[in-house]
Formats: sequence, C-alpha cells, structure tokens
Amino acid sequence: MEQYAVRGGVHLVGEVEIGGAKNAALGILAGALMADEIVEIENVPDLSDTNIMIDALKSLGAYVEKVDRHTVRINGSTVTSSVLDNDGIKKIRGSYYFAGALLGKYHEAEVALPGGCNIGSRPVDQHIKGFRALGADVEIEHGCLVCSAKKLEGSHIYLDVVSVGATINVMLASVLADGQTYIENAAKEPHVVDVANFLNSMGASIKGAGTDVIRIKGVSKLHGAHYSIIPDQIEAGTFMLAAAITKGDVLIKNVIPKHLESITSKLKEIGCDVNEEDDTIRVMASRPFRHTQVKTLPYPGFPTDMQPQIVVALGLAEGTSIVTESIFENRFRYVDELTRLGANIRVEGNTAIIEGVSKYTGANIVAPDLRAGAALVVAGLAAEGVTVVDDIFYVERGYEDFVEKLRNLGADIEKIESPRDLQKFRLHAV
Ligand code: EPZ
Repeated sequence: MEQYAVRGGVHLVGEVEIGGAKNAALGILAGALMADEIVEIENVPDLSDTNIMIDALKSLGAYVEKVDRHTVRINGSTVTSSVLDNDGIKKIRGSYYFAGALLGKYHEAEVALPGGCNIGSRPVDQHIKGFRALGADVEIEHGCLVCSAKKLEGSHIYLDVVSVGATINVMLASVLADGQTYIENAAKEPHVVDVANFLNSMGASIKGAGTDVIRIKGVSKLHGAHYSIIPDQIEAGTFMLAAAITKGDVLIKNVIPKHLESITSKLKEIGCDVNEEDDTIRVMASRPFRHTQVKTLPYPGFPTDMQPQIVVALGLAEGTSIVTESIFENRFRYVDELTRLGANIRVEGNTAIIEGVSKYTGANIVAPDLRAGAALVVAGLAAEGVTVVDDIFYVERGYEDFVEKLRNLGADIEKIESPRDLQKFRLHAV
C-alpha cells in the first residue's frame, strides 16, 4: 500500500507551477464528445480522475488521442453508446457530466450514479430537476441515472441550492436544446465559467457564466475547437497554504490571482505577506499566525475545498479561531487525524473551534478525502519528526506530481510502498 512519508520542519522555498483545473477538466472532457469534429484540449491535468474520464470517452466509442501528457484530442463522431456503467466511473464525481453531455447530444444517457469524496450527502436532485425541466424523462434505475427525451426544449430553471455540478450539467444538456434556457441561482465558480467558455469555443451560445443567471441559446450543432483549461484554483490555494504553514517563501506560477482573492485575504489577515502579479502569487510567512474566523461559501466566498488547509494553518495560530463549513455537512472528518498531530480542535455541528497550539508533532495518519489528505500532508511538513499518511490515492485524484512539486520546494517527502521504505526514510536525514 502506498503512503507518503514526510519529515517536517523545512520552510518551503522556491517556485511551483500550477496545472490545469481538475473540476473544469471533468466538465470539459465530457462536453468534448458533443462535437462530431476534433476538439483539442490543452492543460488537462494528468490525474486519476481525468484519466478515468478519458477512459470513459473511449468506452463510449469516442476517438481519443493523447498528444502529450497534458493535451488530448477528442472526436465524438464515433460514439456508439450512451451507457456508462463501470467500476472506474462509479468512483468519481465528474462522471455525472456524461449524463448532461450524452442527453444533450443523443437525447439518451445511462450513467452510473457518481461516487467521489465522502464529504457529506451529495444528492443529484438539482441535476435531475434541470434535465426534467428541459423535457427529459429521468429515473434512477439499478444505480444508474437513466435519461431520455424525444426532444429537449429550453426552459427556466431555478436551482434550489447553488451547485457547481448541476449548473455545469444543465449547461451541457441545454446547449443543443431548442430555444433559450435560463439557469437561475447558478454557481459562479471559475470552473463553471471555464466550461461555458469551452462550449462557446465549440459554437455554443452561453452568456452570463460567472453571474447568478446563465442564459443559453440552443444551437443546432457544435463544432471542433482548440481550448486551454484555466489553472487550478484549489491546487494554487493549497500551495499558498503550504508556503504559509511551513513559514516559507513560495512563488506560485500560472495562476489567476483574482480566483484566489478569498484565500489571499485570509492569509493576509492571519499575518502572511502575499504579493500578486499578472499570473503569479508569492506567499511569504515568518510571523506567528493571528486567529480568525472563516466561513466556506460558494464562489467568490472562501472555497469549501480549501477548508481543511486553512484549519491546519489556524491550528497553529495564536488564540481561538472559528471555521464554519456551510457547503458539505461531513467535511471535518480529518480533524481526528489532525488531533493525532497535536491540534486542539473541537467540532460542533458544522463549526470547528480551534485553539491554536505552538507546534504539531509527526504521527501515522489517514487521508479521509482529497483536500483533507493534501492538508494533512502539509500539516506533516510543519510537524516535528516523521508523519506517515495512508490512503494517498485520494490526494492523487486531485494533485499532479504533488510529491515532486513539494520536493522541488525543499520538502522532505517520499512516496513509500513498504515498511522497509519507511525504515529507510526514517534513517536518512536531510
Ligand atoms: C463540486 O462538487 C466539486 N467537484 C467539489 O470538489 C467541490 O467541493 C464542490 O463542487 C463545491 O465547490 C467537482 O467539480 C467534480 P455542488 P459538486 O453540487 O458539484 C448540494 C474536490 O475536492 N447539492 O456544488 O458535487 C450539495 O449537497 C471536490 O475537488 C444538492 O443538494 O458540489 C452541497 O451541499 C470535492 N443537490 C451543495 O449543493 C444537488 O443536486 C454544493 O454542491 C447538487 C448539490
């Protein structure tokens, strides 16, 4: 079983390049099958989640060519099936985007209900509500979302909750529908905007992405395109926090600083120096952190996907901090693991009350999900001694070359496969 072994105590220093946005890539890869011409997508992060999407495209019959590690060409003209029900696809959340894309193009789709990180109940009722409003019949049968429509017609859809997944899925299903669709109370995340821009580059007519109301004027078909995915907001944010938590000095390259504003402002509030340039952000930390309050909110609020990372930082701040999770009800499962490193945190409902401690100390811990896993690795980097992190496949779902990027910044971290590897790691000293 693969694990990360981390020896803490190094201040991360240097430069790191951020890859393409995972959660945009998932929508874009599914959307690419909607054209019957070549769609070339650049800056696709090389992750287990994106590779599962690529395998799914192949299993549907789409032409898929990997041009290089981050560029993929897809042609949907060869698609022969609208059914996706395999073990890989069940493991990831983004698989539900195939329902929107297949329904939109072929008026039928049968896609296994999505898995993904266990961070709370993750219903798909808003996706279903949107598909039905467009005129589709949607049922859940044998663990699959089964959708069909004689034709799809534009509609007004008010989302009862702000949902990234439902917003993207309804966009996918409606770009080829007859007439206009309005998605109200839409999610405004950068990856929602990126999927809209991608579909527009294929000839769709989507306006208002990034605001509360998205207007989609149906077009008769989509054409080939060449598109480059935006940088990953959460990967960038994770490295910002890693720089801060290890009291380092890191220049994070290939980012869109505007997407990181809520994180930048919290880091400044707790006492870090953050400098933004056009497409870089530099985080420097040397002083003890001040305590603060954080509440996760849909974009442009503080992202739920950065909640564990900020908690790790506040666990080392002076005084009492309060973090409220308002998106997913089960996203503090990692707190028990952080406690093993010495954190003093009490969780009451959706709130974590954090009494800052002066240091973490290394221990054996388990990654409970993707972002919490990354946050625990970063906690290990700041801890005294060796931390061993289990279940690292979660982390690898969302961070390309995580270990290599951290090592380039000076971190003492290795991926290990056996007790012998761990023994070797414990014996060597930097
Ligand atoms: C996306 O999940 C991301 N995943 C998540 O990233 C991210 O945490 C989340 O958005 C919030 O930003 C992907 O893009 C694949 P939602 P998604 O629909 O789309 C409720 C990561 O670590 N809801 O915006 O599943 C839901 O329960 C992952 O990269 C409904 O009630 O999230 C939640 O409380 C983890 N009914 C809220 O809306 C629905 O039909 C927001 O969920 C859909 C959602």
